[in-house]
Amino acid sequence: MTTIPFWIDSTPIKRFPTLQKNMRVDVLVIGAGITGITTAYLLKKAGFAVALIERERVASVDTGHTTAHLTYITDVELYKLADSFGNDHAQAAWDAGAAAIDEIERIVSEEKIDCEFMMAPAYLHVRVGGSVQKEIPSLKKEARTAGKLGFDATYLESVPHFNLPGVRFANQAKFHPRKYLRALVGRIPGDGSHVFERSAVTEFDAKKCRAKINRHWISFDRLVMATNNPLVGFSSITSAALFQTKLVLYTSYALGARVPVGTIPEAMFWDTREPYDYLRVDGHRDFEYIIYGGEDHKTGQKRKTKQAYARLEKRLKKILPEARVDHRWSGQVICSPDGLPYIGENAERQFIATGYCGNGITFGTVSAIMARDWAMGRKNPWCDLFAFDRKKIKGAAWNYVKENKDYPYYMLKDRLARAEGESVREIKRGKGMVVGSRLKKIAAFRDRKGELHKFSPVCPHLGCHVRWNPAESTWDCPCHGSRFKSTGEVIAGPAEQGLSPV
Ligand SMILES: Cc1cc2nc3c(=O)[nH]c(=O)nc-3n(C[C@H](O)[C@H](O)[C@H](O)COP(=O)(O)OP(=O)(O)OC[C@H]3O[C@@H](n4cnc5c(N)ncnc54)[C@H](O)[C@@H]3O)c2cc1C
Ligand code: FES
Repeated sequence: MTTIPFWIDSTPIKRFPTLQKNMRVDVLVIGAGITGITTAYLLKKAGFAVALIERERVASVDTGHTTAHLTYITDVELYKLADSFGNDHAQAAWDAGAAAIDEIERIVSEEKIDCEFMMAPAYLHVRVGGSVQKEIPSLKKEARTAGKLGFDATYLESVPHFNLPGVRFANQAKFHPRKYLRALVGRIPGDGSHVFERSAVTEFDAKKCRAKINRHWISFDRLVMATNNPLVGFSSITSAALFQTKLVLYTSYALGARVPVGTIPEAMFWDTREPYDYLRVDGHRDFEYIIYGGEDHKTGQKRKTKQAYARLEKRLKKILPEARVDHRWSGQVICSPDGLPYIGENAERQFIATGYCGNGITFGTVSAIMARDWAMGRKNPWCDLFAFDRKKIKGAAWNYVKENKDYPYYMLKDRLARAEGESVREIKRGKGMVVGSRLKKIAAFRDRKGELHKFSPVCPHLGCHVRWNPAESTWDCPCHGSRFKSTGEVIAGPAEQGLSPV
């Protein structure tokens, strides 16, 4: 069993250099997941000189941990989007996702990328063991709304393999995300464009329109923040902090497993559980590869994270008793209160894209299209709908309060709580723990060689206390979901710096 995601394990990507000198480009793109890579690729195609800057390795953070269902079916049901935003806007949101699938298909064909891209149906079905009669009306309503708004959706009494009622959505797709992005990122360098890895942006200079990376400056005309969770950049601290309160980070878990050929149709499935379980099936010559995910919870808010995998495996075995699990991993999804992403200009010359929920592969591609249009001064149909300051509408204000009410709670609770242990002597090799007295705590990790790494548990974002995540060997912050390596370096924001060593 490996804890490396199946995509990373199956597809290495060549290394790119770190930034070693000052330079000037038309557009700086920060973050090389699907959003940043696609943005830089489209911008280069449109004639811009781009620099794509990545703190880690390309396509290795959330994009490397995805399950990559290519779907326009949003986490929030279409009929609910229609209730909140009106039919036209709900349709536009799904249309944007459909346009992304189209764009990916176009790029795959134009660039002749071998990435297992294929159109496949997706099924939403009553969860195994769920109350069938209770769930049928909302499934029928979803199929009806989708049909009315022009999408190919059919209510079924019996979804294949599961034999449970559900909805079949035609015209969805799947691909190998790393094979696709490996090809795209390889086409960016040259003619004044660059890709840099192991190069974190650590400072912005709004007056000179430049950003600092590895002690060097990149000057630019425009900036695209493709960091999944936006950095402050050219925004004011206050507006960036306010914006953060609209974002909620969830951790989602996935298992990779083999089953014999012909066990289950090659498609995508997800159920009506809350949070939902999702399943993808990829046919190979000698086996079918299954990716099964779910167990989402707010990042940093569950301690026994390993049990999430055990629960998932138990449910997977109920559906596919012959499944042999060989990979498991987890990653973050960032959600907005109303279920739609935030994509667009949020400060002069600065474009952000976040809040994709479970549709980051499609919305990441939508963002790239919108960023390219923004850089070219072209109008884009989804600007108002996805604007970060959109004025909505029923429900949002209520959700917003609900999603954030636990922030001061965690801040206070963690500061006042007792540490998990009293002394670093209690920490075994390969484990981390917050130890010390109530007023003087440290987050300590003992590596495989027995060496101790000690940090302040105070999250550099807004001061909550991090917790040890035993499943991933990371420090996770329960407030806004920042994550840090066992050795303190930041993995994912909103924190922009690592934990302070003690
Ligand atoms: C388990 C799981 C299953 C999922 N399933 C699906 C699915 O089926 N379909 C779907 O559409 N979506 C799915 N998603 C969501 C989707 O994978 C993500 O939303 C998407 O990959 C986000 O892409 P991104 O490029 O915006 O962010 P990322 O891939 O996170 O890339 C952002 C990059 O920015 C870099 N960065 C951050 N700060 C800096 C800095 N200061 N300097 C330089 N670089 C920086 C990071 O290192 C990172 O590489 C899933 C996610 C998970 C975790
Ligand atoms: S305090 Fe905001 S992520 Fe930690």
